[in-house]
Amino acid sequence: MIGFNNPRRLAGLAAACALLFSATAPAQDVDAEAAIEYRQSAFKMIFWNFSTLSAMARERIEFDRDEFRMRALRVSNYSRQLAEGFAPGTDSGAPTDAKAEIWANKDDFDAKLADFQRESHKLYSMAAKADEASLREQFSAVSATCKACHDNYRKD
Ligand code: HEC
Repeated sequence: MIGFNNPRRLAGLAAACALLFSATAPAQDVDAEAAIEYRQSAFKMIFWNFSTLSAMARERIEFDRDEFRMRALRVSNYSRQLAEGFAPGTDSGAPTDAKAEIWANKDDFDAKLADFQRESHKLYSMAAKADEASLREQFSAVSATCKACHDNYRKD
């Protein structure tokens, strides 16, 4: 049982909390090089999984519902981990294809990221039951969110 009425334990708890908060660096202290590598890795993971979804959507490989669903879930999960890779101050510090406009138009960039998160989550939600034609259509909707962001915010 946690002894909240025990002063020594309470002090220990306070110290643990202080450590927890000090470990959470403010956004501007993010290591730019690490953040850039992190977001590029996340995109590579997304691309890896998205490629199989694409092959199924384009009927280049046989449709497998369980696999489609698993890969859609991965893409959706990674899409939710991208934002921290674009923290303030991460426009340079390592080779990057991210345009500086991202940080100048952060609200628009965030909206495009939210579109990707919403559409990829929808793809995953649909994957349990929807027919292949509907999944193909939703796959295209997700692809469109990649393109919308790349066209504006990624160097060619
Ligand atoms: C909200 C904006 C945005 C969305 C949405 C987005 N991307 Fe990107 N993507 C970027 C930016 C910016 C970069 C460049 C990152 C860098 O170099 O620092 C990038 C880079 C990449 C890369 C290259 C990674 C590397 O360095 O090797 C791949 C692959 C990629 N994206 C695939 C995708 C796919 C597939 C989707 C959709 C399923 C997608 N992206 C959605 C903005 C986005």
